Amino acid sequence: MAKDVLDFLKAQDGFVSGEEISRSLKISRTAVWKYIERLRAEGYLIEAVPHLGYRIISIPDKLLPEEISYQLNTKIIGQRLFYYETLGSTMDAAFELGLAGFPEGTAVFAESQTKGRGRLGRSWFSPKGKGIYLSLLLRPEFLPQGAPKITLMTAVSISEAIKKVTGLSVLIKWPNDIVVGGKKLAGILTELNAEADKIKFVNIGIGINVNSSKSFLPLDATSLKEEIGTEVSRIELAKEVLRAIENNYFLLKEKGFKPILEKCKASSAILGKRIEINSQNRVICGEAQDIDMDGALLVRQDTGFIERVLSGDVVRIY
Ligand code: BTN
Repeated sequence: MAKDVLDFLKAQDGFVSGEEISRSLKISRTAVWKYIERLRAEGYLIEAVPHLGYRIISIPDKLLPEEISYQLNTKIIGQRLFYYETLGSTMDAAFELGLAGFPEGTAVFAESQTKGRGRLGRSWFSPKGKGIYLSLLLRPEFLPQGAPKITLMTAVSISEAIKKVTGLSVLIKWPNDIVVGGKKLAGILTELNAEADKIKFVNIGIGINVNSSKSFLPLDATSLKEEIGTEVSRIELAKEVLRAIENNYFLLKEKGFKPILEKCKASSAILGKRIEINSQNRVICGEAQDIDMDGALLVRQDTGFIERVLSGDVVRIY
């Protein structure tokens, strides 16, 4: 109900009286006052002027479900939203929701994480209110081997959302990094709950450095604020990420992996370049030649041998 009052206030150009809110939403004046107080406690700045009524001045810089869902216009992605001020990791919360049978599209946001994790046992620096830390539950009808397609679909979606909100062109560093100027801007962690021949659910973990300052970031990382010089609305970006994932996920389901793969190749940070890649305790050197229809990277070694790499960590790009 506080959300109805909020949406009603947002829909007004100027002031609206408590009486009008009460009449339109069919709630008592006391209830209107109670919901306004609740919204203020969440950080909404709401002005109250005698004889004029209420007016919304500003919304809090928080990824609150009532903000994310406002005019989101998706069918499944982000239709169920969970929000926490702080969590160990959104991955663990989403895993529990997956086990409990929550529908695909369920999203978990946290303002900060105390045990944010990245790939290969790394940690993910998750300072409060500076980034987007999100886990999204999907239930694709793929074999477990198809999971890299989900990671690449997500990478394409994050790139498109960043472009749309900030105008910045970013690159995809196979398989899960979003980079700009050689520095990491965002990372994706895909975790599966699967049987040998069936994915039960997949959690896509997305971490985006949005408004962090350089001095607080790891040396090889950057943020959107550092790149474009101004703060970026985390709410707008998070909504755009959810919308882009919905579009690309439907595209993947309806048209297969090819169109996603094409987009991914078009903004690759490594294709055509000489790279060094760590894969299963081995270092592979050569030219990143192509990404195949399973999302695997094809590396042409100096001997001419083409190695197919399913997962790995590109440690150098020449
Ligand atoms: C990587 O680049 O290695 C992947 C980073 C993924 C970080 C995100 S933040 C939200 C979600 N929760 C986590 O603990 N990790 C992912």
